Amino acid sequence: MATHSNKSKAYRHPLNKMSPNKEAESITDRGTIYQNLYFPTRINHVDIPDYKNLNKQLVKDIYKWKKESDGITRSNEARANGWHSGVDMHKRPEKSFQHLHHIIQKSCVAMIEKYILHTIPFSVNCDTMWANVNPTGGFNKSHTHPGAIFSGVYYVQAPDDCGKIILEDPVISRQYCDVISAMRPAKVSDTGDTKNHIDFLKLVRPEDYPRVNYNPIPGRLLLFPSYLSHYVEPNLNKKDRISVSFNINVFKRIAQSQKENVSNKQYKFNPGFTKPREPKQIVQQNQKTQAIQPKIWKLPGT
Ligand SMILES: [Fe+2]
Repeated sequence: MATHSNKSKAYRHPLNKMSPNKEAESITDRGTIYQNLYFPTRINHVDIPDYKNLNKQLVKDIYKWKKESDGITRSNEARANGWHSGVDMHKRPEKSFQHLHHIIQKSCVAMIEKYILHTIPFSVNCDTMWANVNPTGGFNKSHTHPGAIFSGVYYVQAPDDCGKIILEDPVISRQYCDVISAMRPAKVSDTGDTKNHIDFLKLVRPEDYPRVNYNPIPGRLLLFPSYLSHYVEPNLNKKDRISVSFNINVFKRIAQSQKENVSNKQYKFNPGFTKPREPKQIVQQNQKTQAIQPKIWKLPGT
């Protein structure tokens, strides 16, 4: 007789009460079957408090920058119709850009520390950062961010139906030789039949989804591995979709003597915008870094 333990507080999919990692279910009379899930894909997000004033200023500064620069072409290839700024946003003098750069680095440190490296000392560096403006019809084709460990996006302006970001299963071979894939109906693009596909997804665990959608929400910062391919759907709203993307690298902690020269105070946004600094100076953390409390990042006048 199958039994389920109620002791674990681990996440449980409503369709299957067996915890993905630690619990076991006796389904035969020959013993207990255990399961371990390895090779996870880490997708984190944080909602930045007091983001409204920051976003207002970012909109102004990004449009000003857009007026001055034609931008560059990346995932916003010609037919995608979007504007992609240069990748030096974090080095520019605009105070809103500097502020966001600080938020991104602090948030990345907090997320990596909490969910990945735990007690292992590390530093992060934001290598590149850029703005994206997708007008009506604008989108970003599927791509990865080679050369970085983590990448992410911060949402500045996201009207209704402006395009979800779609994250795709990084294990390409899974679509050809996996039990869930074998059960999956034909791809939506092959048949145009979205109902069967969506009904099927309701039957499987989230960790078996072939791709996941995130709705852009202003003030939200999404962080994911740089190897994870993703694309952005076309903007169906008359208003622009504005986001900021970035690439992060992670390093072992620097020597103690260097650490002492850089205190956590440098991360504080207090008061007003901090002066632009070289990335090297702002990536170092004390060993006893605590979980970051985003509320310290207040804009003047908030
Ligand atoms: Fe991207």
